[in-house]
Amino acid sequence: MTAPDAERSGAGRSISGVVLDALTPDDADRCAELEAILFPGDDPWSARAFREELRAGHRYLAARDGDRLVGYGGVALLPGRLGQQAEAEIHTIGVDPACQGRGVGRALLDRLLAAADDIGATTYLEVRTDNAPARRLYRATGFEVVGTRRRYYASGADAYTMRRRPGPVRSADPPAAAPR
Ligand SMILES: CC(C)(COP(=O)(O)OP(=O)(O)OC[C@H]1O[C@@H](n2cnc3c(N)ncnc32)[C@H](O)[C@@H]1OP(=O)(O)O)[C@@H](O)C(=O)NCCC(=O)NCCS
Repeated sequence: MTAPDAERSGAGRSISGVVLDALTPDDADRCAELEAILFPGDDPWSARAFREELRAGHRYLAARDGDRLVGYGGVALLPGRLGQQAEAEIHTIGVDPACQGRGVGRALLDRLLAAADDIGATTYLEVRTDNAPARRLYRATGFEVVGTRRRYYASGADAYTMRRRPGPVRSADPPAAAPR
């Protein structure tokens, strides 16, 4: 990844010893292991699903404590074309239960939302209506509930659709040189 990309994705940031960088296909097995712990009964994603997300070009971040993957998150970015509003969708985010409550989820989400802000995207996501920690995290980062999807999850649980309007551009790219 290029230096600006590394900075934009939060690479090198440290949250209680946890560092963010790009998720790679080699992380897929560990992601699937965490999914099975974090989303039991709700169709946890397989390693193959993670590899497909990366192949599709979606922006995925890893949170690492040394060599150990302790968190992951991904966003699909759909730049606006022909005057249409750019959109983004948070596809998944998860933190190892042993590392929760240390700011890792917030750091991952902040960096994904910075990428959405860079293209002026309105961001959407689905969250279980009974998932209080995630709902609180999303509210704290500017999301609001805009709808309910009944029986959205494999377990039969309902989901809220949440939306966040774009914030100011937060790209780490240096400003373009002034025209001469
Ligand atoms: C949601 C999740 C990613 C948060 O990750 P985390 O690293 O524990 O979160 P952080 O420590 O960064 O906390 C960020 C905010 O989340 C909220 N939060 C986190 N844990 C919480 C809890 N147990 N109860 C209530 N709110 C909580 C708070 O708003 C918190 O901010 P605050 O500490 O300033 O109040 C994590 O709980 C997780 O992986 N959950 C299971 C998977 C999941 O539900 N993913 C989301 C699917 S839509």
